[in-house]
Amino acid sequence: MCFMQKEEKYYVNKYANNKLVFGEGNTNAKIFIIGEAPGGDEEEQGRPFVGKAGKNLDEFLKIAGVNRSDVYITNTVKLRPTKISPKTGKPVNRPPSKEEIDDFTPLLRQELFTIKPSLVVTLGNIPLKAVTSDSKITIGSVHGKLLQVKGIRLFPLYHPAAVIYNQSLRQTYMEDLEAIKDYLQ
Ligand code: URA
Repeated sequence: MCFMQKEEKYYVNKYANNKLVFGEGNTNAKIFIIGEAPGGDEEEQGRPFVGKAGKNLDEFLKIAGVNRSDVYITNTVKLRPTKISPKTGKPVNRPPSKEEIDDFTPLLRQELFTIKPSLVVTLGNIPLKAVTSDSKITIGSVHGKLLQVKGIRLFPLYHPAAVIYNQSLRQTYMEDLEAIKDYLQ
């Protein structure tokens, strides 16, 4: 799908050396899921959430009773943020910079405006802050609660990767998924 021709040129020029991974899914979706940024698998395949975090996301969708084909999935930042590992000399993931987030947030807003979902699910802090434009908001204080922000119905969840790395979040994450499922029914 083509969002904002003019801005696309901007991204293509500024990030000419990066492979961009755009959102995908059902353009009539009622549920719009926003992650942080693509990882190595996503960069390689050119699709969001196909790696380990993608497997967790698929599990999340299953628990929430939602088909992947019924949702739209995108990331806050459309490129894989990397740094060179001093150990291996190879690129490894890093969190997106403020500049990258600021650069890609208008594109995210345009995607939201185009799809007009009835529910936005943010995964982790980065999309939560980008959608609310609130740099102080944290996932720890709002996860699993339905928020109404700038006319958007928002359900913030922890990022699936956080659940991979912090098993103690798993129970909370499961409860949040049950809350989404209840809300969707
Ligand atoms: N893969 C994605 O596409 N987004 C994330 O936030 C993490 C992994």
